[in-house]
Formats: sequence, structure tokens, C-alpha cells
Amino acid sequence: MKVNSADIVISAASQKQYPKAPIPEIALAGRSNVGKSSFINKMIQRKNLARTSSKPGKTQTLNFYIINDLFHFVDVPGYGYAKVSKTERAKWGKMMEEYFAEREQLRATALIIDVRHKPSEDDRVMYDYLKHFDVPVMVIATKLDKIKKGQRAKQLKLVRETLEIEDEDALIPFSSETGEGKDVAWKTMLSHLQL
Ligand code: GTP
Ligand code: MG
Repeated sequence: MKVNSADIVISAASQKQYPKAPIPEIALAGRSNVGKSSFINKMIQRKNLARTSSKPGKTQTLNFYIINDLFHFVDVPGYGYAKVSKTERAKWGKMMEEYFAEREQLRATALIIDVRHKPSEDDRVMYDYLKHFDVPVMVIATKLDKIKKGQRAKQLKLVRETLEIEDEDALIPFSSETGEGKDVAWKTMLSHLQL
């Protein structure tokens, strides 16, 4: 899809602030610093619309972006960062539950994982959590530019088997650095969005 417009709608700390327009949405999920915001930027060809950082914990609220006036990308705070207090963790859990359990227009979630590593226990829990809401999950294996071509098949198999990805869910090798996987990711998103 050619992206003609992309803008932030709101950084929402709670449900009351979510955009009311009944526009279909794709949400992101994944551990801190894995590359969720970078995925959004690459998909829409904007350098830093979704703010990124080399330090984990950059995204702290649910950030709604509107693309071509057609759909929302929802950037979310990551999980699995050790230096987070109990209070902050509970706040994060509430934020996720409020969104994933109740958001009517959510059409699919892009679960971002790092292709270099075996998915963590947190990644497994997240995949199962998303599946229990009956929303399709696209697993994006990002940072593909960081492994050798010869390692790809083995790493992707490890991801598929560790997460026990269901047949209806796509596993898409991706790089926010090179843009590899972008076309497949768009195709999958558009089919979920029914656009
Ligand atoms: P939080 O908002 O903190 O949860 O992080 P995030 O998941 O949004 O990660 P973010 O997009 O901010 O990226 C984290 C770091 O990884 C940044 O330094 C990015 O430049 C880098 N990064 C993200 N994707 C890729 C990729 O595909 N390849 C490479 N080489 N680096 C990447
Ligand atoms: Mg982020």
C-alpha cells in the first residue's frame, strides 16, 4: 500500500482516551526494545513517527496512528524489561487487558520477536494470551539483517516451534533496517483489515 498520510491520533493512558472512530486496527506487541515502533516506521516509511530508542521502555502509552485515513496502528509498551517496578508492571497489565479484551475494531496483532533468539517465556505467554482473545496474530521475526542468510531457516523453525504458531497465523521474516519482509507484512495486514 502506498502511504500518503500517517499521523498520531493520541497517546492514550486509559480506555477513555481511545479514538472513537470505528476504524479497523492493527496492534503491536513484543518485548521492550525488540523493534515494535521501528516496525511501524518502516511499514509507513517514516523515520521516527513512532518514537524509537536504543534504551528499553521508550513507548509507555498506547499510541494510535492513523494511516491513509483507513486504519490505525496501535503501538504498545513492551514487556520483559527487568528494571520495572511491581507497580509499573501492574499498570502495564491493566493497560493490555483493557485494550486486548475489549477493543472491538482490533483485527490482528503483530507480535514482534527477535529472530536471533529463541522466543522467551514472556513471548510464549504473550502469544497464548493474544490467541485466547481469538484475534489473528502475525508473528514478525525482526532484525533479520543481524543474522547470516544460512541461519535463517533454522532460526525461523526455532521461533515457530517455541511459540507453537498455529497454522492460520503468519510468521514473517522482517528487517526494519533493510525493509525485507515489508511486502509480505503489508499483504497480510491488508487481508486482516479487509482493505
Ligand atoms: P519499546 O518501545 O521500548 O518497547 O521498544 P520497541 O519495541 O518499540 O523498539 P524500537 O523500535 O524503539 O527499537 C529498539 C532498537 O532496536 C532501536 O535501536 C532500533 O534501531 C533497533 N532495531 C529495531 N528493529 C531493527 C531491525 O530490524 N534491525 C536492526 N539492526 N535494528 C533494529
Ligand atoms: Mg516502542
